[in-house]
Amino acid sequence: MSEIEAFIRRLPKAELHLHLEGTILPSTLVELSARHPPRLPAVVGRTHPLTLPEAEALYRFTNFTGFLDAFKAVTNCLIGPEDYELAAWRMIEHLAAQGVVHAEVFIAAGVIYRWRDHDPAAFEPIFAGLERARERGQRELGISLYWIFDAVRHFTVAEAERVFRKAAELRPQFPSIVGIGLGGDERRAGSEPFRALFAEAAQAGLRLTNHAGETTGPEAIREALSIGSERIGHAVSAAKDFYLIQELKARATPIELNPTSNVRTGICPSFAGHPLRRYFDAGLLVTLNSDDPAFFGSDIANEYLLAHTEQGFTREELRQLAANSIRASFLPDPAKALWLSRIDSTE
Ligand code: ADE
Ligand code: ZN
Repeated sequence: MSEIEAFIRRLPKAELHLHLEGTILPSTLVELSARHPPRLPAVVGRTHPLTLPEAEALYRFTNFTGFLDAFKAVTNCLIGPEDYELAAWRMIEHLAAQGVVHAEVFIAAGVIYRWRDHDPAAFEPIFAGLERARERGQRELGISLYWIFDAVRHFTVAEAERVFRKAAELRPQFPSIVGIGLGGDERRAGSEPFRALFAEAAQAGLRLTNHAGETTGPEAIREALSIGSERIGHAVSAAKDFYLIQELKARATPIELNPTSNVRTGICPSFAGHPLRRYFDAGLLVTLNSDDPAFFGSDIANEYLLAHTEQGFTREELRQLAANSIRASFLPDPAKALWLSRIDSTE
């Protein structure tokens, strides 16, 4: 490990844009498929259990639409609570190994419901499995985790409502449920249809995140801000709009950037050409994240390393990115203060 890699590992970091399902490696998928009869379309038609080459084939895509299909196929291999628990535990171990001290993780609750015929009883046992992994991570590895329930924007508004209301209903009992998010295909649905649901979620004490400006233009980011989104995922297209950048700066809106994700889904030509550097220099509250690391062949430590090698981020600038990740998190202020001082004193 190089000196800079070791420094990145030592820096306490938060990961704020990470999809649980996007952390599942093909090898874990093979293991999961062996646990169940071949009853889901993602598995039917292939050998059973899945072979590693077959599992790897599920992760192949050439554009954003193909990526979303791949994400859905992998999500559909998660069946029981113990599958979710295993996936979450593996994710947590990998986060801790990279020096991540806190993560806010999306759960594709919208997909869970759709694949279980909207069975209202489907979610709680799965969530219990996730909580077991989270508690173990806290206990054994000292890592804190919050959950963000993610709805699929190109499903129906009624489906998003089910996801957000479930988050609001469970939150008093499970404070680890910190917020709600909107993912999926922005080209098929913007933010406006979810305005009332976002207001209702905020009223219930949930924090609001939103994917915007990933495959769409700056107007999608303005729309996301207008419905109360507190953090914006991707926001790549803000680079085209000087006034929007000024607005994001004035509001100090945290931006959850995922450079390798954008390169792999064909949104950015290269890491070097990603707007990360421009946003950082413009004074935006940018954070580095990995989105779906198992799909993109990266992870959070690698994103920091690429920021250094491809965009010339110095040690002090990497320290600043780590500090941004803590500031932009939904942690309470005393926890933020603790991690910020640890970041300051990291050598
Ligand atoms: N779901 C998982 N990753 C996503 C992304 N990058 N954009 C939209 N939806 C997603
Ligand atoms: Zn995402």
